[in-house]
Order: sequence, then structure tokens, then C-alpha cells
Amino acid sequence: MQKILVARSIFPDVIDRLKQYFDVDWNEGDVLPADELKRRLADKDGALTAGDMIDAGVLAAAPRLRVVSNMAVGYNNFDMAAFNAANVLGTNTPDVLNESTADFGWALMMAAARRIAEAEHWLRAGHWQKWSYDGFLGSDLYGSTLGVIGMGRIGQALARRAQGFDMRVIYHNRSRVAPQIEAELNAEYVSKQDLLRRADHVVLVLPYTKDNHHTIGAPELALMKPSATLTNIARGGIVDDAALADALRDRRIASAGLDVFEGEPQLHPALLDVPNVVLTPHIASATEATRRAMANLAADNLIAGLGVGPRAGQPPNPINPDVLGKARS
Ligand code: GLV
Repeated sequence: MQKILVARSIFPDVIDRLKQYFDVDWNEGDVLPADELKRRLADKDGALTAGDMIDAGVLAAAPRLRVVSNMAVGYNNFDMAAFNAANVLGTNTPDVLNESTADFGWALMMAAARRIAEAEHWLRAGHWQKWSYDGFLGSDLYGSTLGVIGMGRIGQALARRAQGFDMRVIYHNRSRVAPQIEAELNAEYVSKQDLLRRADHVVLVLPYTKDNHHTIGAPELALMKPSATLTNIARGGIVDDAALADALRDRRIASAGLDVFEGEPQLHPALLDVPNVVLTPHIASATEATRRAMANLAADNLIAGLGVGPRAGQPPNPINPDVLGKARS
């Protein structure tokens, strides 16, 4: 039987599925430090990860490893050049999380715009003495302009939601989406600068790459309206969190909703000191149904990628399909 490492705790019934095909080493505990990850991968043919860093050093320490299946749509934790050089297949879990993630992005954006978390903290702290006409004034979503940076499948799901709120949708993306999608979503393609100047609510849904590092930093925040909100459901590192904390503290933008952070699970301490930000622990896809779908898809990818099961050799979501069928190097 081939051997695999499941590097994170996942649904036990998915482990049972994997055990039908593999000898499973399951890490149910804390995130494995790099050395321990290398040690546990040394004799493995495959791995199921969720954000664990897999780079050339890890691959070199795991000479049998042929497939690494990430239980996430984003795979910035994989050094794909190293995967290609070693003929290791990487897979991810796109699509199954689109709607849950868009729902959550919407919730964060609304919470930021209507100051829900801030008001709740204030209430819990016992400050509520009387109703006041100017208590926690926020900004409307209805009738405002939504700016989506990253018009992939999740960005499009957000733009569809915007129609119900009578919002104007502007977007920026590496490339324009097809004209019929723009027409369906009633979405206008604009430059990043234009988007930042015009949007009332900016939502980030782009993948993290070196080129996208600090897509939103001090210069970009300076372009935004003082009344605008910023929501990040993409990846830590896309926003310069220190610059954002400064902008929030100085009210250069109104508020933010953040589900992802540079260096998470650590947060930039200044973010914890500003009241006008809603902070959540990377849970945008966290519904029971979606996390189950992601875990099962990650298992499908690993099973098929390692050449067993009903779809042997044809994993549903190969990131680098060119390596399929090539010998590990
Ligand atoms: C979550 O962040 C994912 O990439 O699926």
C-alpha cells in the first residue's frame, strides 16, 4: 500500500476514505514544523496539506513524494517551480467553496460598513445607556459602488450578490473577463487606481503571488475615499497590514473586514488596537457543507493522483497537469 501523510486534522470520515487506499499517517495535532514535516514525509508517496509550506527543501527530503493535495483553492504555500522540477503533482480545491466564500465576504463587508462588530463589543462592554441618532453611523451597501479586485469565480459570485443590493460593480483583474460575463454581472472593467478612487466598498479576492504582494499598501489606501471600506478574503500579504492599521487609526478609510493576515495566525498588533476593523480567523469557506466538500475533493485528488480509485490517474484539479505520468525526479 502507498503511504500518505495527512498533515492537518480533517473530518475523520475522510481519513476513513483515504485508509481504503493508503497507509495513512495522520497528524491530528498542531501544525507540523518544517523539520517534522520533512521527517514525516521522508517515506511518503503523497500528502494532504492545508497551507503547509512545500518547497524545494521539503521535496528533496521526500524522494518518493509524487502528489501533494492542498485542501484550499489558494496554493501559494506550494513552490510550483520546485514541484515542476521534481515532477511532483500539486492539486487544489477550487469551485466547491465559491458561494460560501462569497457569502462570507459579503458578511464581512456588511459588518465593516455597518460597524456590527464594533457596536457589539461596545454593547457587551456595558456602554449602552440610551438610543442615539448618531450611534455607530455607517455607510450603505444599497445603491453604492462595489469594487472587486480579482474577478475570478469568487469575485463573480460577489458581483452577482451586488445586483440584489442595487450596487454598481466595477472590477480590476489581470485580464478582462469575457464580455458576456461583464454583461451578466453588469460589471465595468477599470484600472486599479480608478477602482480605488471610485469604490465605496473594495473587496479583495485575488490569489497571492509575488507580484500581488502588497497590492494594497499606503499609496493605494491614500486613493480610497475616507468613507470607504476594505474587505480582504484573499490572502495575507496582499494587504500591507501595518499601512492598513495606520489608515484605519487615522480614519483615512472608514473601516475594514479582514479574514486573512500577513503572518497568520499572528496578527499585526496595531490591527488589534483599532476599533474600526472586523477580524476573523481565516474562516471564509467554513461552512460544514463546504469544508466537507473541500476535504472530500482534496481526498479525490490525492487518490486519483496516486493512481488508485475510480478516477485513477485523472485527478479533478491538477495545478500542473504536465507532470502527470512523469517519473519523480
Ligand atoms: C482558503 O483560503 C483557500 O484558499 O481555500
